[in-house]
Amino acid sequence: MRVLLYTGKGGVGKTSISAATALHCAELGYKTLVMSTDPAHSLADSLAQPIKSEPTPLAKNLWGLEIDPFREIEENWAIVKDYLSTLFASQGVDNIVAEELSILPGMDELFSLLKIRQFYEQEAYDVTVVDCAPTGATLRLLHFPEMIGWYMRRLFHVERKVVGTIRKFTDELFSVPLPGDEVYNTVERLYKRVGEMKAVLSDPNVTSIRLVLNPEKMVIEETRRAYTYLNLFGFVCDAIIANKVLPEEVTDEYFAEWKVSQRKYLEEIEASFGELPIFKVRLYEREVVGLDALRQMARELYGSKDPTEKFSKDKPMKIVKRGKDYWLELQLPFVEKGDIQLLRKGDELIVRLGSIKRHIVLPHILAKQEPKLAKLENGILQIKFGLSP
Ligand SMILES: Nc1ncnc2c1ncn2[C@@H]1O[C@H](COP(=O)(O)OP(=O)(O)O)[C@@H](O)[C@H]1O
Ligand SMILES: [Mg+2]
Repeated sequence: MRVLLYTGKGGVGKTSISAATALHCAELGYKTLVMSTDPAHSLADSLAQPIKSEPTPLAKNLWGLEIDPFREIEENWAIVKDYLSTLFASQGVDNIVAEELSILPGMDELFSLLKIRQFYEQEAYDVTVVDCAPTGATLRLLHFPEMIGWYMRRLFHVERKVVGTIRKFTDELFSVPLPGDEVYNTVERLYKRVGEMKAVLSDPNVTSIRLVLNPEKMVIEETRRAYTYLNLFGFVCDAIIANKVLPEEVTDEYFAEWKVSQRKYLEEIEASFGELPIFKVRLYEREVVGLDALRQMARELYGSKDPTEKFSKDKPMKIVKRGKDYWLELQLPFVEKGDIQLLRKGDELIVRLGSIKRHIVLPHILAKQEPKLAKLENGILQIKFGLSP
């Protein structure tokens, strides 16, 4: 199965492009599912058909899915949610607030992404097209596996052994209720599923992320940031889609200045993402709604190309051996030299980039070595490892 993720700033056309892409895939003969991880679903509006929380047939070879986050949370998290509510309530937090707090931010979107892995496992579709939440939320979400992993390893997993031995003595002593086995089992199951999902989403043979943008200053800036961080987190972006481009034949004086500025920003897009193919989509005379409009959009967007193609095959993180030395290479376009800090902690390397940091669990060969040298060349951060003296 191929997974195609479309993300970008709010309003740039993610939903329209996702729906158009899915329809195009279906018409090329792929069994296709289109789903959204944006809690504000709008696929149904775009496709002008009702879409349920189970795969709903929309056209030949095409199914749509709008996940009901509350149902997913009930099914996957209820036990932990109940425990956390009791825990917070025991600390004097008001009952209703305690219940709110027991659902971690981003969890509704997380369960949507977990569904992808489920379809992948079942080999249910040839292609899954995902209409993602705006860039910021998607980044946070794609980072979630590492975050949740960190908590699980340190909090739940480690503590569990301790809890097992001490709980019989402590239950009466502490006012804090300790989690029972079912809570641990649920958290562990989720941790495992999140890890498996991360593996699917960061496998360039399966998943491609496409950034949708408009030729506008703020949109380009946000997309650049997203691109850097997606690379840092180990995901593969393989195309840029520049949407709402004024066509040349528009000669109306009213748009003259818009055309000049769009031309300038299109050049900037070339300069920023030049290593990726850039697909352009014109601004249509009206909203893009319904199968006919989406079909036309997809035809103009992809031409004779197949959307399931891998448009760029680079892996953002590599380990290479040169002579006796191992190098860890991270592709970090647009990052200034001064922005990077490295910190080694056990078998983890922490790369800090502005306010975001990334934990990289080093493979065995590097875990015994120390980072010796870091340099940034042509958007590639190269870290040399060597044995400690
Ligand atoms: N190329 C385009 N030409 C004209 N209207 C467009 C185009 N792309 C998107 N739209 C319209 O812009 C609005 C926002 O698009 P949408 O796909 O919902 O964006 P997002 O999902 O990124 O918020 C919708 O009304 C949509 O029909
Ligand atoms: Mg949308």
